[in-house]
Amino acid sequence: MSLRSSLRAIWIFLIILFIVKLDFVSTRDKCRRCEDCLQPTHDNCFCERISRHNGSNGEDVILCKNVDPKFWEIPILQNIRSISFEETNIQNLTRKYLINAVFVDDIHLNNTNIEEIQPGSFTRFFSTKTMHLQKNKLSKISSSLFHTLTQLTELDLHSNHIDFIKEKAFYWLHSLENLNLADNKLSNLSSALFIRLKNLKTLNISKNSLTKLESNFSPSQLTTLDISYNDIHELPENLFTYQTNLKVLNISKTDIGNLNLTIFKNLNQLHTLSMHSLKLKSFNLKDFVLLPHLKNLDIHSNNLKFVEDILNFCPLLEYISIDGNEFLCTAVESMLKNSKTRNVTIEYTPNYQNHNIEGIQCAKELQNMVNVTNKSLTSKHVQNKTVQ
Ligand SMILES: *[C@@H]1O[C@H](CO)[C@@H](O)[C@H](O)[C@H]1NC(C)=O
Ligand SMILES: *[C@@H]1O[C@H](CO)[C@@H](O)[C@H](O)[C@H]1NC(C)=O
Ligand SMILES: *[C@@H]1O[C@H](CO)[C@@H](O)[C@H](O)[C@H]1NC(C)=O
Ligand SMILES: *[C@@H]1O[C@H](CO)[C@@H](O)[C@H](O)[C@H]1NC(C)=O
Ligand SMILES: *[C@@H]1O[C@H](CO)[C@@H](O)[C@H](O)[C@H]1NC(C)=O
Ligand SMILES: *[C@@H]1O[C@H](CO)[C@@H](O)[C@H](O)[C@H]1NC(C)=O
Ligand SMILES: *[C@@H]1O[C@H](CO)[C@@H](O)[C@H](O)[C@H]1NC(C)=O
Ligand SMILES: *[C@@H]1O[C@H](CO)[C@@H](O)[C@H](O)[C@H]1NC(C)=O
Ligand SMILES: *[C@@H]1O[C@H](CO)[C@@H](O)[C@H](O)[C@H]1NC(C)=O
Ligand SMILES: *[C@@H]1O[C@H](CO)[C@@H](O)[C@H](O)[C@H]1NC(C)=O
Ligand SMILES: *[C@@H]1O[C@H](CO)[C@@H](O)[C@H](O)[C@H]1NC(C)=O
Repeated sequence: MSLRSSLRAIWIFLIILFIVKLDFVSTRDKCRRCEDCLQPTHDNCFCERISRHNGSNGEDVILCKNVDPKFWEIPILQNIRSISFEETNIQNLTRKYLINAVFVDDIHLNNTNIEEIQPGSFTRFFSTKTMHLQKNKLSKISSSLFHTLTQLTELDLHSNHIDFIKEKAFYWLHSLENLNLADNKLSNLSSALFIRLKNLKTLNISKNSLTKLESNFSPSQLTTLDISYNDIHELPENLFTYQTNLKVLNISKTDIGNLNLTIFKNLNQLHTLSMHSLKLKSFNLKDFVLLPHLKNLDIHSNNLKFVEDILNFCPLLEYISIDGNEFLCTAVESMLKNSKTRNVTIEYTPNYQNHNIEGIQCAKELQNMVNVTNKSLTSKHVQNKTVQ
C-alpha cells in the first residue's frame, strides 16, 4: 500500500468521524428543549420529562413523565399513536394537558390521581380510539365529558370512585366496544345509560355496590357481561331474554341465592358461565335449560347438594369447578362417572380427610352406596386452588 492511499484512507476515516460526531451533537442539541422531542422527525429523543420512542409494536409513543402542565406547551402532534403519562400527579385534568395531542389514537391517563376532569378536556379528540382512565379518583361522570369521542372503541374507567354517571354520558360513543366500569361505587344504573351503545361487546360492572339491575339495562349485542361482586339479590326474570350473543357471563359473588335457571334459556352462545359464591342451595333441574355451547362452568363455593345431571344440560362442557359445596355422594359419583365418559375436567382440591370419593368430599345418604375411592381420574386435580 502506498503512502498516498494510506493518507487517503485516514482522511476518509476522519471525515466519517466528523460527520458522525456532528450528527450526534446536533441530535443532542435538538433535544435540549423538551418540546423539540415531539417534532415528528425526532425519533427516540429522551428529555427530562418527555420522550418519544417506538412502542412495542413499532408505533410512535410519547411518554410524559412527571410533567407539570405549565411546561406543557408542545407543538401540534400529528401521527402519534399513543401518549402516556407516568409518575404524574394530574388531579385536575384540564384542556392544557392534552391540548395539542388531538390526533392521538390511544390516551393513557391511568394512575395519575385524577379527581376531576374539566369540561371540554376531550372536545377535540374526534379520532381517539382508546382512553385509559382507570385507577384514578374520579367520582362523577358528567353528560358532556365524552361527547365528541365518536371513534372511541375502548373506555376504561375501572378502579375509580365513581358513584354517579349522568344518564347521557355515553350517548355519543357509537363506536364503543369495550366499557369497563368495574371496581367503582355505583349503586344504580339507569337503563338509558348504555342504550345507544350499538357496538358494545364487553361490559364490566363487577365490584360495585349495585343492588338491582333493570331488565333492559344491557344492549343485546353484548358478548361479555360481568356483574360479579355486587349486592344484587335477584335478577329480573327477562334480564337475558335478548342477550342471545352472550358468550361470557359472570354473576359470581352476588347475593342471588335463589336462581331460577330458566333465566338462561336464550343464552345459546354462552361458553363461559361463572356463578361461584352465590349460596345456591340447589338447582331445580326441572328448570334447567340446555346450554348447548357451554364449555366452562364455575359453581364453586355454593351450598349445592345435587349436581348429577348438570353435565347432561351442557353437552359440550369441558371444565367445571366444584369446590366448597355440600354434595351428596351419589351426586359426586354420578358426576365423576359422567365426567370420565365425557372427558370433563373437574377442578377441586382433593381432600381425603373426610368422607370423600376420589378426594371430593361428600355426604353419605344411602347405606348401600358403592365405594369408588381413590380411582385414577381422567379429570385433573388442581390442588392448592385459592377459593374466593
Ligand atoms: C419506529 O418504527 C417504524 C415502523 O416499524 C420504523 O419505520 C422507524 O424507523 C422506527 N423508528 C426508530 C427510531 O426506531
Ligand atoms: C380545576 O381547574 C379548574 C380550571 O382550571 C378550576 O376552575 C377548578 O377550581 C380546579 N379544581 C380544583 C379542585 O382545583
Ligand atoms: C396504564 O395502562 C397501560 C395499559 O393499559 C399500562 O401498560 C401502563 O403500565 C399503565 N400505566 C400505569 C402508570 O399503570
Ligand atoms: C372486570 O373487571 C375486573 C376488575 O378489573 C376484572 O378482575 C375482571 O377480570 C373483569 N372481567 C372481565 C370479564 O374481563
Ligand atoms: C342512583 O345513585 C345516586 C348516587 O348514590 C343517587 O344520587 C340517585 O338518586 C340514584 N338514582 C336512583 C334512580 O335511585
Ligand atoms: C368473571 O368471570 C369471567 C369468566 O370466567 C372472568 O374472565 C372474570 O375475570 C371474572 N370476573 C372477576 C371479577 O373475577
Ligand atoms: C322458574 O321460571 C319458570 C318460567 O318463568 C317457571 O315456570 C318455574 O316455575 C320457575 N321455577 C321456580 C322453582 O320458581
Ligand atoms: C381429553 O381431553 C384432553 C384435553 O382436552 C385430550 O388431550 C385427551 O385426549 C382427551 N381424552 C379423551 C379420552 O378424549
Ligand atoms: C366403603 O368403605 C368403607 C370404609 O372405607 C367401608 O366401611 C364400607 O363397608 C364400604 N362400603 C362398601 C359398600 O363397600
Ligand atoms: C386415598 O388416597 C389418599 C391420598 O393418596 C390416601 O391417604 C388414602 O389412604 C387413600 N384411601 C384409600 C381408602 O385407599
Ligand atoms: C400446596 O401447598 C403446600 C403448602 O403450601 C405445598 O407444600 C405444596 O407443594 C403445594 N402443592 C402443590 C401441588 O402446589
